[in-house]
Amino acid sequence: MSSERGLAQSSARRPTIGVFDSGFGGLTVLKALLQLIPEADYCYFGDTARLPYGSKSVETVARYAVEAAHYLESHGAQMLVIACNTATALALERIRSGAHVPVVGVIEPGAEAAVASSKNQKVVVIGTEATISSHAYRIALEARHLQAREKACPLLVPLVEEGWVEHSVTEQVARIYLEEAFADGFSDADTLVLGCTHYPLLKPLLRRVVPEHVSIVDSAESTARAVASQLERLVPSTGAAEERRRLPRLQFFATDSVEKFRRLGERFLGHAIENVQHVDLKE
Ligand code: DGL
Repeated sequence: MSSERGLAQSSARRPTIGVFDSGFGGLTVLKALLQLIPEADYCYFGDTARLPYGSKSVETVARYAVEAAHYLESHGAQMLVIACNTATALALERIRSGAHVPVVGVIEPGAEAAVASSKNQKVVVIGTEATISSHAYRIALEARHLQAREKACPLLVPLVEEGWVEHSVTEQVARIYLEEAFADGFSDADTLVLGCTHYPLLKPLLRRVVPEHVSIVDSAESTARAVASQLERLVPSTGAAEERRRLPRLQFFATDSVEKFRRLGERFLGHAIENVQHVDLKE
């Protein structure tokens, strides 16, 4: 059965969208999805026991991400959103080829956001070590005729996880990374792409650190738009009006502590998290 037919057949009900991330950061993407597509239900998988992905190899990230994608599909996801930049950069094609439903990653939408923002076609992208080494952003940006400087910022994820989003140490670390990124021919870059799920939480701090002329874009909103346009194409809105109006049903799966997921996740999602189930993915 083709993935498109699978989705169309379920159109009488609200669609269920599966969102995957290595941990909590993908909740920033879920937040954007809930704002734009409240007429869907969501299941979110955070692979918190195996986080971080950003320092791992292609083979490991691909294996973990494919397992998580299967889990979401087996729990009713009719479309998959790979909210993790590292998993998108390293494993999107592997996830797609193993999935029976449409799969949307964050890098193409992030590159589209950069195109819309940049006036001089010169952008800086920051992300994890693995995302930057894959050059997935550079490839997506150059295909759109943008020049890209990529910069790995491995210390930022642990600082955000620690809750230090307004800490002077984080500001100093960000300043060092970004001074290096905006040097040597890129001082006039006019757009900074946040190529990691955790960085949107640092937006106010990064705003103080980057030159004033620089716009900061992240892929959360443009990913939500890409998902909305796929859904429109695949699922005619035929469900009963009442069914479409009710609040989205949210289900969360985490591979590490449920309590920790609730506590940290709230920071990323912006509201209380209930209905978290622990999942043990056997190696
Ligand atoms: N979710 C990852 C990303 O967006 C960041 C956290 C990790 O390294 O697992 O790249």
